[in-house]
Amino acid sequence: MIRFEHVSKQFPNGTLAVKSLDLEIEKGEFFVLIGPSGSGKTTTLKMINRLIELSKGWVRINGKKISDYDIHELRWDIGYVLQQIALFPHMTIAENIAVVPELKNWDKKRIRTRVDELLEMVGLDPKEYRNRKPHELSGGQQQRVGVLRALAADPEIILMDEPFSALDPFSREKLQDDVLEIQQRLKKTIVFVTHDMREALKLGDRICLMKDGEIVQVGTPHAFLTNPANDFVREFVGNKQVPVRLEELMVPVTDEQAILPQTKTVSLQAPLAEVFEQLASFEQIAVEDGGKMVGVINRPHAMKVMSQYLRDGGRMHE
Ligand SMILES: Nc1ncnc2c1ncn2[C@@H]1O[C@H](COP(=O)(O)OP(=O)(O)OP(=O)(O)O)[C@@H](O)[C@H]1O
Ligand SMILES: [Mg+2]
Repeated sequence: MIRFEHVSKQFPNGTLAVKSLDLEIEKGEFFVLIGPSGSGKTTTLKMINRLIELSKGWVRINGKKISDYDIHELRWDIGYVLQQIALFPHMTIAENIAVVPELKNWDKKRIRTRVDELLEMVGLDPKEYRNRKPHELSGGQQQRVGVLRALAADPEIILMDEPFSALDPFSREKLQDDVLEIQQRLKKTIVFVTHDMREALKLGDRICLMKDGEIVQVGTPHAFLTNPANDFVREFVGNKQVPVRLEELMVPVTDEQAILPQTKTVSLQAPLAEVFEQLASFEQIAVEDGGKMVGVINRPHAMKVMSQYLRDGGRMHE
């Protein structure tokens, strides 16, 4: 469906962002590009719809070179979702979703039906949301509309560049589920950029890990977990497995007086299990190191850190 053949991109300033990339993305595949900052993910993505022109090699869609497509059709026929919510602020939600159908001269009735159908698909009641402005929606809802806009004209291919990274964990999970469902139901080809291995493992049919403009490994989530190509991959997959350290649960002591005399004390070296046993009985415990008070752990803060950590795919190790 999308084929990269020896594709390189060198920017005018000399930066070689992508180096002789060979890649084939299948029709209907959820394909995830992951890698550290500056590894060439966005550049790779934007070469597909020619937001960035490639320097060497070829990109083909359905066998045809992208340079042989009409540039407008190419853009309209490929949905694109950005990290920053990029809705037009003065347009209503319905108008925002309808941008590409309007460009394609769909008739009013068809557009209206399509907008309502899309809003319903992600649980936004059209009657309530159709005529609102973007600022009258939460961040998560705005991003959902961003996804709908990319889907509006029913493109075969959708490109998504870190679409959920600005969202809170709850909205993020919800949108991941929405997009997975959409992809499974509508069989779109999705190319999805992320920094987050957990997101990649959850969403991807295949994952492509990049580093310095090159592919380190392409494969299924299962292959990444069971058969990492090298230490870099192993570290990238495993970096969420580091144990929570006791320090991360602490809030610093700002006012010694705030620690009540009868407050339970644990050592900085105490196992986490002991800390949580104490927190089951005490709202707050103090932490000492070599006889000196170094911090306090209060229950709500500790719960918050742990839940965030577990949500990010972490595990508790002792
Ligand atoms: N317009 C540009 N001109 C010059 N260099 C650029 C340009 N755009 C990107 N680069 C460089 O190309 C390399 C790859 O950038 P790219 O944006 O593709 O990385 P990325 O993997 O998407 O990173 P991030 O995770 O931070 O978004 C980087 O070294 C970057 O500085
Ligand atoms: Mg990027």
